Amino acid sequence: MTNQRYAGRVALVTGAGSGIGQATVLRLAAEGAIIIGCDIDAAGLEATAKLLDADGHDAALLTADITVQADVDRVVAALQGAPVDLLANVAGIMDYFLPVTDLDDAVWDRVIAVNLTAPMRLCRAVIPAMRTAGTGAVVNVSSVGGLTGSVAGTAYTSAKHGLIGLTRSLAFLYGPDGIRANTVCPGGVHTNIGKTAFARSQWAYDRLEKSFHRATRMAEPDEIATLIAWLGSTEASNVNGAIVTADGGWMS
Ligand SMILES: NC(=O)c1ccc[n+]([C@@H]2O[C@H](COP(=O)([O-])OP(=O)(O)OC[C@H]3O[C@@H](n4cnc5c(N)ncnc54)[C@H](O)[C@@H]3O)[C@@H](O)[C@H]2O)c1
Repeated sequence: MTNQRYAGRVALVTGAGSGIGQATVLRLAAEGAIIIGCDIDAAGLEATAKLLDADGHDAALLTADITVQADVDRVVAALQGAPVDLLANVAGIMDYFLPVTDLDDAVWDRVIAVNLTAPMRLCRAVIPAMRTAGTGAVVNVSSVGGLTGSVAGTAYTSAKHGLIGLTRSLAFLYGPDGIRANTVCPGGVHTNIGKTAFARSQWAYDRLEKSFHRATRMAEPDEIATLIAWLGSTEASNVNGAIVTADGGWMS
């Protein structure tokens, strides 16, 4: 890959051990980025390291649970004070398609913690240095579930809608400081998210499934990574607060 949009630029990527996060790490590395990647799944990170190595690239890959503040602190400390050019909040989990009446606090708390609170904490940690530098980009990976109630359970839908609110707040409040924040809303993507995507509520799943039939096709992770990379690059210098759907037309 000859495009070197990220040469010498620092990227922090969550969910680096699988799916869209892994594809984002591989793409940004190929474009010259200095990468700190993290994931709760150590084996996933090892797989990412092997893929990077095969391409002749590397990255600092840290095992971390982004719902734990001490782990977030450790990941941010690995930056050694360097301002982040791109924070890609990719890590996420599904919610077993649970509707509110079947939802327990444990699933709600975990889904909100991973999908919404953790991205907020990472933004809170890296934006001060971005402001000082006068530049920086955040890309939050939401979902078509952030745009509609018809594809996931209540917790995922709420968290992903919330992530769009977080993005808009960042864009408006920090745009004058040279910081851009945008959201990507993928439709179905071939990844490992299925671990939390089996149905625990059959009636809710049966109802949601009707909207699945409108989907066109599943995307590959790199089709989302390419969008994250573009939004984080200077090529998107006037794109701030955008909600970019990448669902092959599912929601159209
Ligand atoms: N795959 C899809 O169809 C799809 C559709 C729309 C949106 N998304 C979103 O894309 C993002 C990436 O998901 P994916 O599809 O690549 O799934 P994935 O399961 O392949 O990857 C998600 C990664 O996040 C990591 N993770 C989960 N909890 C974590 C935690 N507490 N701390 C650190 N890492 C953690 C997982 O270990 C995993 O490696 C998610 O935010 C997801 O909601 C996915």
